[in-house]
Amino acid sequence: SQERLRRIRDRVRPFPDFPEPGVLFRDISPLLKDPVAFRTLIDLLEDHVRASCPKIDLIVGLDSRGFLIGPPLAQRLGIGFVPVRKKGKLPGATESISYSLEYGKAELEIQSDAVEPGQKVVIVDDLLATGGTMCAACELLKRLKAEILECLVIIELKSLKGLEKLNSIPFYSLLQYD
Ligand code: PRP
Ligand code: HPA
Repeated sequence: SQERLRRIRDRVRPFPDFPEPGVLFRDISPLLKDPVAFRTLIDLLEDHVRASCPKIDLIVGLDSRGFLIGPPLAQRLGIGFVPVRKKGKLPGATESISYSLEYGKAELEIQSDAVEPGQKVVIVDDLLATGGTMCAACELLKRLKAEILECLVIIELKSLKGLEKLNSIPFYSLLQYD
């Protein structure tokens, strides 16, 4: 598994000063482009969720890079996928919340009927930085009375201390950077 993790880590590219000065951007494009590495990524996430969250009902993915990982993972697990989107994209009744992230501010939404009260969800995204995005998604799911089993990301940027913002919600990352 260390070997499999290394294959994934080798396909994350750092870009200094993107999208603004001072941010070291971790780009997962090479990981998505390599079919063996991408399959390995989904294998590792599937193994983790089966072991840690066996009672899961739904995968919730965050706009937009959570949409790259969430649906293939949900298919593997044989369960459904629910999108949390940036404001103004979802039709019908929605819950919305504004939040700040490492490089800016935005607003997230979920359809009010997307999750039944008591359903057990795992929230997935590519990366945890300040935790603002993940924390906002957790708040939306709590409003719908979902049970959040875990927040799951590929990459955790340790120095931004996003984990502290998540309080006691279980969290797992495949790769960590300082
Ligand atoms: C990035 C990343 C996470 C979030 C992490 O998405 O994919 O969703 O920022 O930052 P945080 O922990 O400080 O909140 P971004 O908002 O850039 O949107 P995108 O996926 O549409 O590019
Ligand atoms: N890479 C990708 N997304 C991000 C980053 C990063 O370094 N920081 C905040 N969102």
